[in-house]
Parts: sequence; C-alpha cells; structure tokens
Amino acid sequence: MDKIILEHVTVNFSQKKKHFAAVDDVSLTIKQGEIFGVVGLSGAGKSTLIRTLNLLQRPSAGSIKIDGVEITQLPADKVRKLRQKIGMIFQHFNLINNKTVGENIAFALKAGNYKQALPERVKELLDLVDLGDKIDSYPNQLSGGQKQRIGIARALANNPEILLCDEATSALDVETTEEILRILADINQKLGITIVFITHELEVAKKLFHRMAVMENGKVVEADSTYNIFANPKAAITKKLVGRYLNLQLPNELLPDLSKGRLVELRYQGKSTLTPLITDVSKEFDVAISIIHGKIEYIQNDVIGILLVYLTGDKNAVEQSFLRLSQKVFAAKEIKEAI
Ligand SMILES: Nc1ncnc2c1ncn2[C@@H]1O[C@H](COP(=O)(O)OP(=O)(O)OP(=O)(O)O)[C@@H](O)[C@H]1O
Ligand SMILES: [Mg+2]
Repeated sequence: MDKIILEHVTVNFSQKKKHFAAVDDVSLTIKQGEIFGVVGLSGAGKSTLIRTLNLLQRPSAGSIKIDGVEITQLPADKVRKLRQKIGMIFQHFNLINNKTVGENIAFALKAGNYKQALPERVKELLDLVDLGDKIDSYPNQLSGGQKQRIGIARALANNPEILLCDEATSALDVETTEEILRILADINQKLGITIVFITHELEVAKKLFHRMAVMENGKVVEADSTYNIFANPKAAITKKLVGRYLNLQLPNELLPDLSKGRLVELRYQGKSTLTPLITDVSKEFDVAISIIHGKIEYIQNDVIGILLVYLTGDKNAVEQSFLRLSQKVFAAKEIKEAI
C-alpha cells in the first residue's frame, strides 16, 4: 500500500536575485511500513525534500498525498493534525537543554493527546529506547547516541505513522550509528512505522534502507531497491558514489605487473561463488587467472561479491576470457592503476 505519493514536487528558492529549484520535479512513492532512504551529496536538496512531507517547507508546485489525502491544500488546523502523525529526528538532536529528559518528552506529549496518562507514557517511551534510567538527566549529561535515542523517543511520543530522519546519524561515531540504526529498524518492525531517512552516508543506506532514491541538483536521478542501487547503479552520480563505496583498496605492493596481464574487477551476486566460473574460463581459454583480492558486502539480506582477478596468457585468449567473465557477472571493469 502506498503511504506517501509525491508527484512533480518542486521547491523554488531565490538567492541573491537568482532563482533555482532546490527540489526539481520530484515524483516518488513510499510504501506503508517501509524504510525509504534518500541519498545525495551536500546541497542536493535532500533536507528541502523531506521537509515538504510535513509542510515545514511548502512546495512551490506539485502534489503530495499521504494516505491518499492531498496535504498541500489542507487548512491550518488539519496541518497541525497531520504533523502529529509525523515524527521527526535531526542531526543535532534539537533537545531542549534546560529541561530534563522526562520533561523533553512530556513537552512533546502535551502538544498531543496524552495529557492524562503522561507519566506512564513518558516511561513507556524511554523504555522503548532503553533509557528509562535517564529520566531526570539533562541533555548535556548524555552522550550523542543517548541524545539521539531521546530524540527518537520524543518523535514517537504521539504515535506517529511516519518518522522523518534528517541525517539522524551523521553526528555520531560508527558504533553509535549502528546502535541508532538498530533501534530504528526495530521500531519499524515492531510498530510498523514508515521511515523516511536522508543521509549522505552509503554505509547507513546499505544497513537500513529497504528502498532508496538518489538525488542530484534537486532531481531524483534513480530510485530502486537498496540492493539494486548498490549492485547495478544506473545514473552517473550513483555509479560514482557506489563505486567509491564498494572499491577494494588495493595496496601498491599487491598490484600485479599490468604490462604482463590484465587486472579485472568483478561484481557478482555474492550468494554463489565464482571459483567454478574462473576455473572453467581458465581451462577453456588456457589463461592463468589468479585471485588478487576479494570482499563480500551485505546489503540487507543479500550479498554482493567483489573480486579482483589477474589474467595472464595469450593476448587474444585473455581478451576472450575477460569477455566471458563479463557476461557471467553483473559488472566487470578493467583496472589500470592502483586504487
Ligand atoms: N531557505 C532557503 N533559502 C534559499 N536557499 C535554500 C534554503 N534552504 C536550502 N537552500 C538551498 O537549497 C539547496 C538544497 O539544500 P538542502 O539543505 O535541501 O540540501 P541537502 O541535500 O540537505 O544538503 P546537506 O547534505 O548539506 O544537508 C542548497 O543549495 C541550499 O543552499
Ligand atoms: Mg540536509
């Protein structure tokens, strides 16, 4: 079921009398209960786009439907109602520093429908992010990861159906990021909340997103399952981002003599192994194929294998082997220098 449908959404800004579209004719569909991500370089328009979903940013043109209702036309009181349905977390947490953790959450609850059962609900929310013991602490007594967990608890205060996350892990170290991603995946599973998460970090995309879109200069250049984006990127910017992310770091000492043979990087559906293929090709064309380096990337429940092989032998036979290998994997490219 479709939860959010954007059609031809554009956001125009003017800076120093110059007009430009920070979001440029974006159409996307986000399904009920999925974790949908948007990645792109700084300035691509990610924050502007996500802010249109709760109308913190009004689109200049286009249609946004949530649960089938056109939100860009809603009167002010309905917009307030809509915002209760949508929680949001931020890169810098945005907690109120002179209020305790409990008060921060209670503050969010007072805006909603929990005026009676307030203390119970505060406790319930803090337990959800495993921070029940911090109820009387102040934000500056917490670590970054703990602050973001409070941010999550606060965003969930009024039982939202959608959670928007704007670079929610970008201020955190690797381990804390993992912890926050685990909590978000858990919340998505347990509560069935639709999550829209924007980030410039492919590591986060790989671990969290079910489907994702890539943005460049205000446009969505492609959208697909996370696996397909990583395994078979189509747009130039996606190829560049994914290429950089998946690249095997080959130290100079491992670089074989490129005047005597060809070094080829193969990317393949990692559930199978390439050994039989390599043995077959090697026999068929009578070339030597040695494995220089390899790694496996886990994308959600799927696997991408990356293998660097070095082919030596008769020039023509090497070319034939390269072509055969290329046909059997989803990407093959020759490497001409150390990476
Ligand atoms: N209120 C505004 N007025 C004018 N220009 C804006 C405004 N907000 C954002 N922009 C511009 O719109 C473009 C997109 O900004 P946006 O914040 O959406 O990018 P982003 O993809 O979130 O980048 P980052 O990864 O750095 O957060 C940028 O060029 C930015 O300068
Ligand atoms: Mg941003």
